[in-house]
Amino acid sequence: MTSSRVLQSDYMHWAKFKPAVRFPLTTSEVPHFPMDSLPVTIADLDLDGASHPRYLPLRERIGARYGVSPEQVVAADGTSMANFLAIAALISPGDEVLMERPAYEPLLGAASFLGADIKRFERKASEAFRLNPEIVSGQMSERTRLIVVTNLQNPSGALAQEDELRAVGKLAADRGARVLVDEVYLDSAVPPRRSAVQLGPEFVITNSLTKVYGLSGLRCGWILAESELAERMWRLNDLFGVNQAHPAERLACIAFDHIDEVIGDNGAMLERNRALFNAFAASRSDVECMPFEQGVTAFPRWAGGDTERLNDHLREHYDTAVVPGRWFEMPEHFRIGFGLSTTEFGEALMRLGAALDDLR
Ligand SMILES: Cc1ncc(COP(=O)(O)O)c(C=O)c1O
Repeated sequence: MTSSRVLQSDYMHWAKFKPAVRFPLTTSEVPHFPMDSLPVTIADLDLDGASHPRYLPLRERIGARYGVSPEQVVAADGTSMANFLAIAALISPGDEVLMERPAYEPLLGAASFLGADIKRFERKASEAFRLNPEIVSGQMSERTRLIVVTNLQNPSGALAQEDELRAVGKLAADRGARVLVDEVYLDSAVPPRRSAVQLGPEFVITNSLTKVYGLSGLRCGWILAESELAERMWRLNDLFGVNQAHPAERLACIAFDHIDEVIGDNGAMLERNRALFNAFAASRSDVECMPFEQGVTAFPRWAGGDTERLNDHLREHYDTAVVPGRWFEMPEHFRIGFGLSTTEFGEALMRLGAALDDLR
């Protein structure tokens, strides 16, 4: 039975408007990249007033990074709109959609808004949140049209291995269903992993120049899908945003042309911060999680109960914040992000440690 349709994302509203703190461990993005450090001139913005449907130079650059044809690339405003557009093209109202738990709430919201009958499958904390194809299989039915996963997973940062993805892809393909893989964190995998789009036509992936690139303001997102499906998404987008903002497309091309500069030492910074966090977690009996080898986020369990209390205490006394696990349906966990400068991250961890001690 389809439950009532979600008409907003409470999580996104909270994430946008929560009061600022000095040490936001809430972040899930590396520090913002200053576009003005690239050779951009006003002429590059091509402010001719025209829109440029399916702007080929951008699709070529995105396609080249994956070794896929520009025909398979659909542009969208961030991974957010990419997810919405992909789900909208893949399901009809009443279709069954199988979503991971814990999940990024706007994905659940988008599917609900589009009339999906949402079923869930667990990514268990006791299995380090791995993508377990047997669990997925147990939750599938003849009516499953779409399986949705995030890789790396938000909130846990867990990496789905290629054989696990393939197994899930097979479950979908056997029923004529698809797998949507939100890969917005995948480019922080260590070592780098290839996209699920390489694994077969049953996979549709989304990504953007956001989390690992620090360019969320550009809203440069994309979907990769087989070309017939990509065409359906473009046609559907004629009902939504119609075209992208052309100056943003031009800036995104410049960012892709200087992508090594954009990435800079983010990888090294994330690695240092993960090492600090791993040492911190290992030193505490009240924080439970696996060591982190990759990713931008971690989702440890706190022995003290609902982490809303931890976050309130951090804000009130330490000018620091985490994401309470209730936003991911697991209130005893909390999410932290590694995307702060290492100096700030180290200071934030000290404050987190002091808050945890207070609440022991
Ligand atoms: C799994 C996931 N997908 C998509 C997004 C949104 O990305 P974008 O800013 O590119 O829309 C986020 C941001 O938190 C996310 O965690």
